[in-house]
Amino acid sequence: MKKILFASSEIHPFIKTGGLADVAGSLPKALAELSQDVRVILPNYPSLKTTEDVHFISSVRVNNQQANILETRLPDSQVRVWLVDCPELFDTDGNPYVDAQGNPWENIADRFTFFSRIIVEVAMNRAHLDWQPDVVHCNDWQTGLVPALLSIESNTPATVFTIHNMAYQGIFPESTFANLNLPRQLWHPDGIEFHDMLSFIKGGLAYANRITTVSPTYALEIQTPEFGYGLEGLLSHKYNILSGIINGMDLDQWNPETDRAISEPYSIETLEHKVINKTSLQARSSLPVNKSVPLFGLISRLVEQKGIDLLLDCLNEMVEMPLQLVLLGSGDKSVEKKLMNFARLYPKKISVTIGYDEALAHQIEAGIDIFLMPSRFEPCGLNQLYSQRYGTIPIVRETGGLADTIEDALPKSLANNTATGVSFKEASAGALLEAIKRTLLLYNDKKTWKKMQKTAMSKDFSWKNSAAQYLELYEQI
Ligand code: ADP
Ligand code: GLC
Repeated sequence: MKKILFASSEIHPFIKTGGLADVAGSLPKALAELSQDVRVILPNYPSLKTTEDVHFISSVRVNNQQANILETRLPDSQVRVWLVDCPELFDTDGNPYVDAQGNPWENIADRFTFFSRIIVEVAMNRAHLDWQPDVVHCNDWQTGLVPALLSIESNTPATVFTIHNMAYQGIFPESTFANLNLPRQLWHPDGIEFHDMLSFIKGGLAYANRITTVSPTYALEIQTPEFGYGLEGLLSHKYNILSGIINGMDLDQWNPETDRAISEPYSIETLEHKVINKTSLQARSSLPVNKSVPLFGLISRLVEQKGIDLLLDCLNEMVEMPLQLVLLGSGDKSVEKKLMNFARLYPKKISVTIGYDEALAHQIEAGIDIFLMPSRFEPCGLNQLYSQRYGTIPIVRETGGLADTIEDALPKSLANNTATGVSFKEASAGALLEAIKRTLLLYNDKKTWKKMQKTAMSKDFSWKNSAAQYLELYEQI
């Protein structure tokens, strides 16, 4: 049995802005099911949502700042969660990264440096918790300093650093490095310095014993300039400790048979009930209720990564086609505005909800026929997994985890019953539109469509395999 400290800046259902929270809320549970002693550590944000008991267990001081450690559990599990409670840093509105107006926290470097320092205290068993992990598993730049800070200690646990997204690196001016009072010996080009700037993610990449990312294809992509954002050299240098492990999904949260957020549960055997979710979604979205019109959907952070611009460039043509669209997302204000304009112009075709709505996300996955995911890059992506589980056919761009988890509907895959979606290569509106047209042809062939739905629904996207791969990695180090 391994003792694993799993560190993340967001964890579902406590707090979530994207897929990292889904992973951090479900991989630890899967590791616990493999009989591992895993504990999760997260900042104590004021908006944390939990039904579980939360209580004080310890307090710890680093760099003249004090934190209380509160303990709770991941709902429906025995996995302990340690909340780093420091009101002057974390007790603020907004989300982990931006304030209520959407601007990045001015003190974001302080926040995650302090969080990382506390993780180090816990990792070194100096936080009065009487527990020393064998492995510290860090995720994304917010915990990147942990392997760096541990590198200057002795008798430390081993470290794994998982990249969920290379586009976010935590880069700050050199003056921030000085203000943070970080150890001088970390400041060099093979350390956390990146072209005279401080790079949090480099702390993970340069010092962790193993680096992983969330799909095998993305593990290769980030070793190229297009996806490596200047760190492709370091990543290819580290290729022998770098691997891709595809994300699983939380089958307790995303299961059309038991989902309490949707109108009518269904399974492969009762797939005909899916249409009840379609008509309620249409009604809820003020679209004409029509069982046979193909209903497209999208749930996304509205950022460049997700290729929403490609979709925007297709919308004028899409509204001429016999289809409807339900979109849910938030992010880039100009994209939000453009989508809202389309919805105003074509209220019978397009419904747009700007904001973050967990229940609606479930209703969309259950109610639509086709999920759009035209990402420019996608480390793993979770919605294409949820879609397949809900018998919703995804249209994806062939990149990262999308390439690894979707079997394009081509003559061969259709003939041998492995097709689960439609994918396209070029990041252009033309290529997306072609894929949409190809999907509409498939949709009109009811028998083929149903076969694809059933193949998608029966694929195994549980955490079991991936959690076992992480465990193997922990054992190697
Ligand atoms: P990323 O982490 O890059 O945003 P993923 O596909 O890995 O992409 O995960 C996104 C997660 O966030 C999914 O669980 C998705 O349902 C959820 N999500 C994204 N935007 C919204 C939204 N506006 N409302 C509800 N859930 C959302
Ligand atoms: C990131 C990526 C997404 C991935 C998620 C969880 O946010 O953008 O592709 O699924 O992390 O690993």
